[in-house]
Amino acid sequence: MTQSTTSQILDGKQVSQQVVEGLSQELQAIHASGAVIPKLVVVLVGDDPASQVYVGKKAKMAQKIGMLSELLTFPADLSQGELLAVIHRLNTDASVHGILVQLPLPKHLDTLAVITAVDPKKDVDGLHPLNLGLLLTGDPLACKPCTPAGVITLLKAYDVPLAGKHAVVLGRSNIVGKPMGLLLLQENATVSYCHSKTPDLAAFTRQADILVAAVGVPKLVTAEFVKPGATVVDVGINRLDGKLVGDVDFESVVEQAGYITPVPGGVGPMTIATLMANTLALYKRSLRA
Ligand code: GUN
Repeated sequence: MTQSTTSQILDGKQVSQQVVEGLSQELQAIHASGAVIPKLVVVLVGDDPASQVYVGKKAKMAQKIGMLSELLTFPADLSQGELLAVIHRLNTDASVHGILVQLPLPKHLDTLAVITAVDPKKDVDGLHPLNLGLLLTGDPLACKPCTPAGVITLLKAYDVPLAGKHAVVLGRSNIVGKPMGLLLLQENATVSYCHSKTPDLAAFTRQADILVAAVGVPKLVTAEFVKPGATVVDVGINRLDGKLVGDVDFESVVEQAGYITPVPGGVGPMTIATLMANTLALYKRSLRA
């Protein structure tokens, strides 16, 4: 039996604009007060075209809402020592409140060592092991990774019920999958993780009330993966035949899902809005310290 429902779009563009509007007002008040202005520094190593687009969007949004932002770009052959020196300099620069090292880094660099070198108090990405540990223990001081935190904000904006629901997370990256599951658990969802070694993925995902796809496989999730009425969140940003597509085959799933995020215009803008919110939060915390 085919069940045809029309999905409601989870409009990340619209919700992110609301978030950003609130931040913008706070920044106006900061400017008016004559206080130090929050500053985000984004570090980009190499010339990955997708990363260049992402960091450009982050810097542009920071400027738009009245934050100071600086983009530091380095050639792909930057050494580990040189990169660590840059991070140490930013850690000790009191005018810098947020540091983001764009990932992925070139292969010769040790990503974990680089992330761990960032002062946890300036770690806007929430990827430092200390922040991930705080997230694991449910500490409100944890700076939460931007993409999964943005997904939770989006789901809440649409009053998608989470408590007692079965959430299936496709993917186990440190930046999205793992923290996504932890945040859903914090919302009292029952969480399952699936990944590349999970046999018969669809058998798991069909049990999901909330399905989050973050595996980087274009259009992996088709209608057979989705329980009718489920909420489907697509974190994937893949290029297929020159087009931007997610991990979800939108055309196939849109009739089946209750709620669905589009690509683009779903999770992406929420990630950027959350980055701005994290920077402002760390700024405020630095003033209290
Ligand atoms: N690469 C893709 N998304 C992100 C992100 O949110 N943060 C960082 N640091 N790198 C990324």
